[in-house]
Amino acid sequence: MPVTADVPAVALDGVSFAYRGGPRVLEDVSLEVERGAFLGIAGPNGGGKTTLLRLVLGLERPTAGQVRLFGGAPQSRGAPRVGYVSQRAQLASATPVTVREVVEAGRLSVRGPFGPLRAEDRAVVARTIERVGLADRAGAPLRTLSGGMQQRAFIARALAAEPALLALDEPTTGVDAESQESLAALLAELRTELGVTILYVSHEFGAVEHVVSRLLLVRGRIVFDGAPADLPAVWHDPSHAH
Ligand SMILES: Nc1ncnc2c1ncn2[C@@H]1O[C@H](COP(=O)(O)OP(=O)(O)OP(=O)(O)O)[C@@H](O)[C@H]1O
Ligand SMILES: [Mg+2]
Repeated sequence: MPVTADVPAVALDGVSFAYRGGPRVLEDVSLEVERGAFLGIAGPNGGGKTTLLRLVLGLERPTAGQVRLFGGAPQSRGAPRVGYVSQRAQLASATPVTVREVVEAGRLSVRGPFGPLRAEDRAVVARTIERVGLADRAGAPLRTLSGGMQQRAFIARALAAEPALLALDEPTTGVDAESQESLAALLAELRTELGVTILYVSHEFGAVEHVVSRLLLVRGRIVFDGAPADLPAVWHDPSHAH
């Protein structure tokens, strides 16, 4: 299915969700995200941010309501590609895999597991590594990079598939404020240059409120949806988000 301009990137209609046998963790969520948006998703621990992303990506099915990704069912054949940097994206620290190998793995998801990568794929991999600012570390083992650099490598892995939508779950956990800001700037650039739709989960939305075009606050349901500047002052302090 081609990506058409008039269809929202993400559409949720009356979505509720409970994990098997558990209580409802999301209740009656309706949401439309336009293509090319940079959506920040914030809220307290356990508020349902990761669950919401997993529903959008088709990794969980709603118990009620409907999810549409670029007009079709998530994970359907021929659907536009999505990139996902999960909350716990990390490798065992002993793994000697290099930055380039990590990003090539992301490209293989387009080519199929039996590759081989063609010259054009290698060019995409090189360009993507450069784009995230790791060109001079491409041959370095991932474990020798700082936490923030490793996050960039995981983002490059997701980008190497040239996704129409990029979903990032707390990509800056354990990353210093400066790296958070430079990551936010990188994402803003990707959005402008590639037109990719970005869903960015962070429970510290201070890091993203300057770059996102729209902010959701999720606490079992959507309790705020709007421009970051319109967020009621009381919610700026994460300790009050509970
Ligand atoms: N695989 C699972 N099985 C059962 N319950 C789950 C599972 N994953 C999450 N939950 C529950 O669903 C609720 C929402 O969790 P979720 O991970 O979506 O929250 P979150 O907003 O991402 O939190 P955090 O900020 O800690 O990452 C929580 O009550 C959590 O305990
Ligand atoms: Mg989470």
